[in-house]
Amino acid sequence: MSPVKIEKDHKFFDRFLDNDLKSLTSFLENKMHGLENGLIPNITKEDFDVLENRSPATNLGSQYNIFQFHHEGLHNIYRAVSDMTKEACWYYGIDFDSQYYMIQGWFNFDNYQKPEPLPDDFLHDHLEGKGAPDFHGYYCVNAEPSNTYYKIGGIDGERFTNVNKNNRAVLSETGHPHGIQSWNEKDFRIPRGLSIIFCVVRTGFEPVTFVFWFRKSDYSPTRYPCAT
Ligand SMILES: [Fe+2]
Repeated sequence: MSPVKIEKDHKFFDRFLDNDLKSLTSFLENKMHGLENGLIPNITKEDFDVLENRSPATNLGSQYNIFQFHHEGLHNIYRAVSDMTKEACWYYGIDFDSQYYMIQGWFNFDNYQKPEPLPDDFLHDHLEGKGAPDFHGYYCVNAEPSNTYYKIGGIDGERFTNVNKNNRAVLSETGHPHGIQSWNEKDFRIPRGLSIIFCVVRTGFEPVTFVFWFRKSDYSPTRYPCAT
């Protein structure tokens, strides 16, 4: 069913969770070890090696789905993304149940050195940047102190700084290019910049792997009142 979207100002949706970040960090480090050693279904050791340590968890993100793994924290993030998507649909006037949403996620160790302030050509978008009803977001595991920069309305739009908070999930419609700032931390053994990224898209988008769907619109605006 083609969506009928109400034109609204851009809005971030967020949820603060109480995940055990130490446990989640070691779980993700273990998954990185799994990627490195060909222990994750659908990903070979050669897939990993060819990347020569260039953000393998991110660049292999189309070959696994973070939500295929079993950790209580991931279940909590999944639930938060589902909940934020329902809230966002309510905000944009989209019928959640008619969208047949899928979710795709991966994790990210962002250790790149980048110029500061982050230039526009370091920003990117997802899902062709078409906007709601497609959404994208991130959850910080160990990303303090840092910012995620957005250009609201497109690359020529106004720059907005989202201050990253650990244990916080953020959702935005696509179409607003973004990027995380560089790390000053020189010791890359510390898993700084550790985050989980997710995309929420209507069924039929290719290529994605291990996608799940969720339906049932049980969002109530009285639980999370939206500014209109
Ligand atoms: Fe992104």
